[in-house]
Amino acid sequence: MAKPKVFATHQLFEEARQILNAACDVEYWANEERPPREEVLRHVKDKEGLVCLLTEKVNDELLRVAPKLRIAANVAVGYDNIDVATCTKRGVVATNTPGVLDETTADFAWTLMMAVARRLAEGEQLARSGNWKGWNLDQLCGADIWGKTLGLVGFGRIGRAVARRALGFQMKVIYTDAVKAPEEIAKSLNVEYRDMNTLLAESDFISLHVPLMPETRGLFDSPKFYRMKPTAFLINTSRGPVVEEAALVAALDAKKIAGAALDVYENEPFIHPGLKRPNVVLAPHLASASLETRTNMAVMAAKNVVALFTGQTPPNMLNPAVLNKF
Ligand code: GLV
Repeated sequence: MAKPKVFATHQLFEEARQILNAACDVEYWANEERPPREEVLRHVKDKEGLVCLLTEKVNDELLRVAPKLRIAANVAVGYDNIDVATCTKRGVVATNTPGVLDETTADFAWTLMMAVARRLAEGEQLARSGNWKGWNLDQLCGADIWGKTLGLVGFGRIGRAVARRALGFQMKVIYTDAVKAPEEIAKSLNVEYRDMNTLLAESDFISLHVPLMPETRGLFDSPKFYRMKPTAFLINTSRGPVVEEAALVAALDAKKIAGAALDVYENEPFIHPGLKRPNVVLAPHLASASLETRTNMAVMAAKNVVALFTGQTPPNMLNPAVLNKF
């Protein structure tokens, strides 16, 4: 029997390719540059499977041109690029990669937090510039992290992994979430629940760990920044549109907050020019980018595709209802 045809919008990693190739006839996008939209649409036309990155929109337009498509496997945990409801309507399974990137992403939230608090980017620039005149008492003094209050907005797997790291820094950790964490988890991580406004007022560092959905789009707007301490920092490793960038720039201009460290942006890869300032650390969407984790994510996506085409339930289905349609 002919193997099902799959389009992967990236070459993926060898480990993932081996899994996919064993069960599917895969066409890989081989260019370094991401495929333009027309190319994605052209290549997916006759395919039964799609392995895609978060930069590809799996929406009505794509699903219409790919009538044979049965699965769209996202190599990412966030799936705001996928219109899951339309996938379900059209009988297409959608999957993501939860769990494998939690610790790596938490590491990076901490990387950003430490970098912005301790002015690492400015220091690195000075060290490389040839203009460093040597140690000086008040040179690039930043803010302490240890002993401060960390506010987590979103307390799922990644938020909890960030909280666990705070234990070693003797921080007070508070969180806000639509759902309160079970008491034993809050206790073991030494965290306390706060409503949003209280968290904004108490935190020295605020780190965002919510998915992008209608309720969280633009969550961090001007009133939120005005409720933060003028000495506080915002860290975002979630999704760019959770923060209104223009409002963040205005808050930085008005010194309503001390700084920010961002991995994600409202309109990637565009970065608001007002964010390019010394007290903002900017990273190009790297939070899950360790080789181990990115490989695991690709393997997970490959396994989801192969599961479907070998008659099993893909382990990371976002729309289990769709299986009733087959
Ligand atoms: C990365 O941003 C992801 O959602 O996995």
